[in-house]
Amino acid sequence: MNYFIHTYGCQMNIHDSEKIAGILEGMGYKPCDNAEQADIVVFNTCCIRETAEQKIYGHIGALKKLKKSNPNLIAVVCGCMSQQEGVAEKIRTSYPFVDIVLGTSNLNLLAKAIEDVGKKKRFVNTDFLCYREEDFMQSRTSFPNAWVNINYGCNNFCTYCIVPYVRGRERSRPIDDVLKEVKDLVAQGYKEITLLGQNVNSYGHDIGDVTFSMLLREIGKIDGKFRLRFMTSHPKDLSQDVIDAIASYPNICNNIHLPVQSGSTEILRKMNRRYTREDYIALVDRIRDKIPDVGITTDIMVGFPGETDRDFEDTLDLVRRVKFSSAFCFVYSRRKGTPAYSMEQIPYAVKKERITKLLACQNQVTKEISATMVGKRYEVLVEGANFRYKNTMCGRTESGRLVNFQCDESQTGQFVTVQIERASSATLWGVVTEEK
Ligand code: 5AD
Ligand code: SF4
Repeated sequence: MNYFIHTYGCQMNIHDSEKIAGILEGMGYKPCDNAEQADIVVFNTCCIRETAEQKIYGHIGALKKLKKSNPNLIAVVCGCMSQQEGVAEKIRTSYPFVDIVLGTSNLNLLAKAIEDVGKKKRFVNTDFLCYREEDFMQSRTSFPNAWVNINYGCNNFCTYCIVPYVRGRERSRPIDDVLKEVKDLVAQGYKEITLLGQNVNSYGHDIGDVTFSMLLREIGKIDGKFRLRFMTSHPKDLSQDVIDAIASYPNICNNIHLPVQSGSTEILRKMNRRYTREDYIALVDRIRDKIPDVGITTDIMVGFPGETDRDFEDTLDLVRRVKFSSAFCFVYSRRKGTPAYSMEQIPYAVKKERITKLLACQNQVTKEISATMVGKRYEVLVEGANFRYKNTMCGRTESGRLVNFQCDESQTGQFVTVQIERASSATLWGVVTEEK
């Protein structure tokens, strides 16, 4: 019995798929390479932008044919898209060959759902049940990195964003559970732990006596050579205490993903981000003051309702000023159910022109940073082969930059020193050296 999982979207979904894989493996299923060989196919979906959603509906539709040639195939749709209002119903009526629909917070029902399908019943349930991680196995796929959830959901309600509606209110995991998971992973040989939450900085707010900086310090004290990363940080909640904790513990990486979204205070206000352009710049200055070699990455959106040329220029200016080591750049996508849906929208042609300019601007910044790295040596954690190039391995610097180099594949999961030899914009190339 084989399973195949299509994962769409962010790290949170990638990690949820590891939990789904764990449940299926616990039931005796084995992973396979494609849907054609599978007895169960899972679509772990994303709905953050419309393009993601359209693509997924296309892929689910294609299953109809497969199901004809293999009537026993079990089809599952879960994740953010199925949690959107009306979507579970739409799948129930328009995609009758889908057997199971689950949401974002009830993966623990998967085994029961598969049993029901065995009894010729469909299973559709998107209740928020908030499972415990400890209740099932996980099948990790990203060695030497391991993802660890610390909080789920989001209370911020940025006006463009669907996440608070599909992932629910903020819930923090008990600190002892998180610490136990991290300690076990380090003992098992994982070399990089990435803490996950929509807003890691508000960890603990809902349970009272713990904070994110306390969690960082506790993990910082764990023995053994490993790196700690975390994402995502909301700029309004990144405290001085967190900055100090990063600066104090060598195993906490000097890398912060700090989505700015826009460089215009007026747009930030309309987005309900609750910081200004000046607040953001001051925060970056405070971070660089304590952690001089920090790599700051970000998310930026163009074409939010009401964004003027002037607002967009402010974004370009901020990108040049802050010098992000990299940025995920998005075109604003109108999401039903969010406040921005009913604001006055920007023409697509304007959005397209702006995203092209933004990408060129960030590219230039990345290129400049890359040029300063040539000739220097960095400690790199070997992540594995980079299949884009022949005989090439890759790994990251502590600040999060990807480097290509040559070494033996058996060195995956080891720390090596790499001297950067050349850089082509975002891509760094280096050689492994003996000394630091
Ligand atoms: N349109 C475009 N981008 C979005 N993001 C969130 N919602 C939208 C949307 N409606 C982006 C934000 C966020 C990242 C995960 O996705 O930049 O930080
Ligand atoms: Fe969405 Fe804002 Fe929450 Fe991030 S902080 S998940 S952008 S609502």
